[in-house]
Amino acid sequence: MKTPRIGLIGIGGFGSAHVEHLGLLHERGEIRLTAAADPAFPQFRKSVEHLKSLGARIFESSRELLESGLVDAVTCATPIPVHASMELDLAERRIPFYMEKPPAVTIQDMDRVIEAVQKAGIPAAIGFQFLSMPSIKAIKQRIVEGRYGAVKEVIATGIWKRFEIYYNRTSWAGKLMENGAYVLDGTLFNPLSHILHLALYFAGTELNKAANPVNMRAELYHIHRIQSEDTSCVEAELDTGGRLFFYATLCAGKQLTPEIIVELEKGTVRWTGGTTVSFIENGEEKTESFPVPEDRVHLLAFGSFIEALRSGTPVDCPPELCRSFVQTGNGAFLSSGLPREISERYIRRVHENWSRTAELIGIRQIIRRAIRERALFSDLEIPWAVPGRWVDVSNMQEFNLYEDPQSEPPLPPPKGR
Ligand SMILES: NC(=O)c1ccc[n+]([C@@H]2O[C@H](COP(=O)([O-])OP(=O)(O)OC[C@H]3O[C@@H](n4cnc5c(N)ncnc54)[C@H](O)[C@@H]3O)[C@@H](O)[C@H]2O)c1
Repeated sequence: MKTPRIGLIGIGGFGSAHVEHLGLLHERGEIRLTAAADPAFPQFRKSVEHLKSLGARIFESSRELLESGLVDAVTCATPIPVHASMELDLAERRIPFYMEKPPAVTIQDMDRVIEAVQKAGIPAAIGFQFLSMPSIKAIKQRIVEGRYGAVKEVIATGIWKRFEIYYNRTSWAGKLMENGAYVLDGTLFNPLSHILHLALYFAGTELNKAANPVNMRAELYHIHRIQSEDTSCVEAELDTGGRLFFYATLCAGKQLTPEIIVELEKGTVRWTGGTTVSFIENGEEKTESFPVPEDRVHLLAFGSFIEALRSGTPVDCPPELCRSFVQTGNGAFLSSGLPREISERYIRRVHENWSRTAELIGIRQIIRRAIRERALFSDLEIPWAVPGRWVDVSNMQEFNLYEDPQSEPPLPPPKGR
C-alpha cells in the first residue's frame, strides 16, 4: 500500500485529537484522510470543516463509511461499549484498524477480537499510545535485556481529579453497562488504563509481551454519582514471578502526574509520565531524557500503524498485548464485586469555577502509605475500606458481573451535599 486512505470513525470527544493528528499526516503526504463518520457530526462543525477542507467525505454511520470504498483502513475514537463489536465487524470486512483503548472490557470479547484479527490477517493497533514513546521503549528494552535482573514489583499510581461535567459529557460515562454491553468505565478501563497496561507490559519478560495475573485481589469504590468505580487498588501475583500494585483515584483534591516504579533484583526504574526516566543502579540514580519528536505521542502511535499498513511491520500495541490488561481489570471486579459507595463522612463535595467535584478526603496520603507498605486500602484499616477476596484468574475465559448480563444495575441514589 503506497499512501493509505484513512477513514476516521468518531469525530467528537477524543476524536478531535484524531482529526488533528490525521490531518497533520495528510498534509505531510503520509496518508490521505478520505472519510469520517459520526452520527452526531453536525455538532462538531470546526472538525467537520477541517476534514472537508482536506477532501474527506463525512458520513452519518460507520457502515456507510466502510461501504463507500473510500478507505483502506480506519482509526476509531468511539464509545467504549461499541469497541469490541466494531473491531469484529472491521476484522470481518478485513479493514485494518487503530482502535482507541480499551480494545474490549471482557476477556471473552478480547479473545474474540484477537482471534478475528489473526484470522483476517490485518494490521490492528490499540490506542495505548505510550507504548510508542521512546522513554517507554527504552525502559522495556533494558528490563528485557536483564541488566537489572528480574522484575520483583511494579507499582503504578494515578492520582487524578474529575468533575461532574466529565461524567455528564456522554451517555456511557461512569457506567458498568449500557444497552446490554459492558462498559466498566472507571480508573481501570478508561482514564488510568494506560498505567495499568504499562505496568503489566514492564513486568513482562519478553519484548512484545506483558505479564499475566495469576492470583489477585482488588478493592473498587466510588464517590462520584456513578455505577462504576472512581477509586481502586489492586494487588496481583504475576506469571513472571513478579507482583503488581496498582493504585488509582479520580477523586483527589489536586491532579498529579501518574508514576510507575519498577523494582528489579539489581535496580529500580522510575517513570513519571513523560520523557525522562530515572534508573537507579548500585544506589546511584541517573536521569535520562528520551524526547518525543514534536512533543506529539499520537503521531508516533499512528506512525507505527501507518508503517504496518505500508510495509507490514508490527504495530507497537497489537490486540494480543492487551489481553492481560483486560484479565486484570475483570479480575479486579471479580475480587471486589460491584464498586462500593463510600460514606458522605469521608467526602468533600465542592464547586470549583465551572463544575462540581467530589474529593475523597486524604486519598493522596492513603495511597502514599499503601505504596510504602505494599498494602491495599483495607489492610491499612481505612474506615471506608472493605477487603476484596483473592481470586485465581490464571485460566479466565469468561467474565460476567451479573447472573443476568442483560440486566443493568440501577444508578446509586442521590446523596446529600
Ligand atoms: N488514548 C487516549 O489517551 C485517550 C484519551 C481520551 C479518550 N480516549 C478514548 O477515546 C474513546 C472515545 O472517548 P470519548 O470520551 O471521546 O467518547 P465520547 O462518547 O465523548 O465521543 C465518542 C464520539 O463517537 C461518536 N460515536 C458514537 N457511536 C458511534 C458510531 N457507532 N460510529 C461513529 N461514531 C460514533 C459520538 O457521537 C462521539 O462524537 C474511548 O475509547 C476513550 O477511552 C483515549
